Amino acid sequence: MKKIILTGDRPTGHLHIGHFVGSLKNRLLLQEKGGYDEFYIMIADAQALTDNFGNVQKVRDNVFQVMLDYLAVGLDPNKVTFFIQSEVSELTEFTFYYMNLVTLARLERNPTVKEELRQKDFEKNIPMGFLTYPVSQTADITAFNATIVPVGDDQLPMIEQAREIVRAFNNLYGETLVEPKAMLPENENAFRLVGTDGKAKMSKSLNNCIFLSDSPNEIKDKVFNMYTDPNHIHVTDPGKVEGNTVFTYLDVFLRPGDFEKYLPEYKSLDELKDHYRRGGLGDMKIKKFLNSILQDILAPIRARREELEKNPDKVFEILEKGTEKARKVAYKNLIKLKTAMGINYFN
Ligand code: TRP
Repeated sequence: MKKIILTGDRPTGHLHIGHFVGSLKNRLLLQEKGGYDEFYIMIADAQALTDNFGNVQKVRDNVFQVMLDYLAVGLDPNKVTFFIQSEVSELTEFTFYYMNLVTLARLERNPTVKEELRQKDFEKNIPMGFLTYPVSQTADITAFNATIVPVGDDQLPMIEQAREIVRAFNNLYGETLVEPKAMLPENENAFRLVGTDGKAKMSKSLNNCIFLSDSPNEIKDKVFNMYTDPNHIHVTDPGKVEGNTVFTYLDVFLRPGDFEKYLPEYKSLDELKDHYRRGGLGDMKIKKFLNSILQDILAPIRARREELEKNPDKVFEILEKGTEKARKVAYKNLIKLKTAMGINYFN
């Protein structure tokens, strides 16, 4: 069986360091490892519209911003096909046929959708487009015969939904589609990177993000205002490491050589944590350390991003080429789908 990877993001904002450790790094790893037949990354603008239909401009602007983020972290158009969801109209046709294979009750049970509905206060007036986006996501995946879908754990219900639709389709119309598998990031700490406020997952709507596009000053301000241990008031007080955002980030972002370079009086993170727990280590010192590390990691990404931003035509050209390729594949697979269903009248 071919190894076809497909994943994507909703373009509703710039990507942040939570995306970086939670999904982008994983994609870079896959890209470098190779050994796949095809690798698609889709900018899910149509899906983003299901809860931003009144704000098309925002979605449109962020198609470009997200693409800048992809390229800036090192995703390579020679190894990955990037495309825009709404420009592959075959996807809506897939969605239409899959709608028959899902019940309303099943969609309402989807835990991710449920949670989103709760957050958005849609409860009484749920737009159909929003409720059915898992069906359209099944289309995204199956239109390319994707076998592997790298996602965060909040997307597992979407993959499960896709697998159910695939099974239902194959049962009714004969073996046509392949069941995709989710692929979770390896580093569990990075699964859902906590926001700078320490409260919840990093998320634009919560205003607790460090963006890949942030300036050195923005990064510094955000790190210096980070949530630590509210009871660690005086330097001499014993401090808590668990739930302390600075230490959570150090767990995720520390690289070999960082102590030698920026904090040579310590040998390891364990030693730093022990000192903090005992008391006598101030928040400013650990924040400065984290800031140096994040500045190092983000500087080259920001530089590449700024370079690319000057050349939007080139960026859109990559998207256009990728989209053309994606269209061809989706069209071919749509014909297969319709043939399996018996709705191919003219050939
Ligand atoms: N639902 C995904 C998100 O919110 C985006 C997405 C749309 C996607 N279609 C997909 C992810 C297909 C993986 C595969 O981030």
